[in-house]
Amino acid sequence: MIDKRVFEFPISYLNQIGQTAIGWGAYETVADECRMAGIKNALITTTGLKGTGIVEEITQVLTNGGISTVIYDRVTSNPKDYEVMEAYDIFKEAGCDGVVSIGGGSSHDCGKGVRAVASNGGRYIGDMVACIDPPWMEEMKKYKPVTIPQISVNTTAGTGAETTFAAAIVNTKVKAKLLTVLPGLGPRMAIIDPLLVRLMPRHVAAQTGFDALAHAFESYVCKLPSRYNRALQLEAIRAIAGSLREFSYNRMNHEACESMCWAESMAALGLISGGNVGIVHAMGHGLSVLYGVHHGLASAVVTVPGERYNQPVCHDRFAGMASAMGVDTRGLSRVQASDRWFGEIERLLEDLDIETGNLHRQFGFKKEDAHHIIKWQYANDFAQQGNPRNFDFDESVKLLESMY
Ligand SMILES: [Fe+2]
Repeated sequence: MIDKRVFEFPISYLNQIGQTAIGWGAYETVADECRMAGIKNALITTTGLKGTGIVEEITQVLTNGGISTVIYDRVTSNPKDYEVMEAYDIFKEAGCDGVVSIGGGSSHDCGKGVRAVASNGGRYIGDMVACIDPPWMEEMKKYKPVTIPQISVNTTAGTGAETTFAAAIVNTKVKAKLLTVLPGLGPRMAIIDPLLVRLMPRHVAAQTGFDALAHAFESYVCKLPSRYNRALQLEAIRAIAGSLREFSYNRMNHEACESMCWAESMAALGLISGGNVGIVHAMGHGLSVLYGVHHGLASAVVTVPGERYNQPVCHDRFAGMASAMGVDTRGLSRVQASDRWFGEIERLLEDLDIETGNLHRQFGFKKEDAHHIIKWQYANDFAQQGNPRNFDFDESVKLLESMY
């Protein structure tokens, strides 16, 4: 059939979002938020956050506020399908009516997974993934929307998962990180409290902060035409360029901490306001699954080669981001200005102690795995749709292999 569309993406979807509360001490409202959401008996999903006292403190606030809790604290970085199903069993047995997720993206996405499963009669989470083939917009109609509420409490500044409507869960059967997208999957309320966020260790602050930047730059250069996204991402880039270094080395710098909280939230809002991640997240997801690399770090190590692949088709966008990072681009050609963005990123990565490429030495990457990673990037990762330069399968495999 002839494709009769005039534009590649004729309709922009600006997704309805839940509320967000940003501010010092916001976590103390968690029981009130549960009550307003109709949650009386909450399942807490978390990695445990051992040594911080955060989970104990929030559990106490919930108990004092009359909310019963049961806890699933075995979520791991890059959450797995079996963890979602284990947490669902606890949710069901305890008769829970909502989720409170405490942590970073893994805890929030596990919580979303539990709600998707619970809303669909205990169905395996890996069955409800959004694939490009068959088309996910059609597949999604087969599943029940999620009506169980979730309150997400951030302890990191980067993933945006406290707000976004997709759950990225590792399907351990096929060894790929797959996205579940159902109506209602986004949390009802995101609580972003710098008091909790500043307790991150240095490398987690750096890597999750870079993840927020990756959401911003990938969706700023993406093909989708949302102006909401562009406006939010430029401001997020400006804020991260100005505060991530300071925050990662000095989490008690309250201004830098607050700035990162706003920036990661803006980057997440931009993503769900008609933006999209691209080739960097796509390759990063594969590295996370096969070698257990932290999500933010996985994106960071492939950023420069990944965006060099995109650069020829969107010099103006890279030039715009260079300005947002503080480069004076007056008098430069668009190509020169675009190159300056890469210079800024290389310097930032160096300052954060993150090495580009060398994937074998750093993580045990094997060239023969590149095909598997790219295959799943094509099948499920929406990166393929919005990336500014159309992916070519063989080119993408070669690109990843070149980072050996
Ligand atoms: Fe990310």
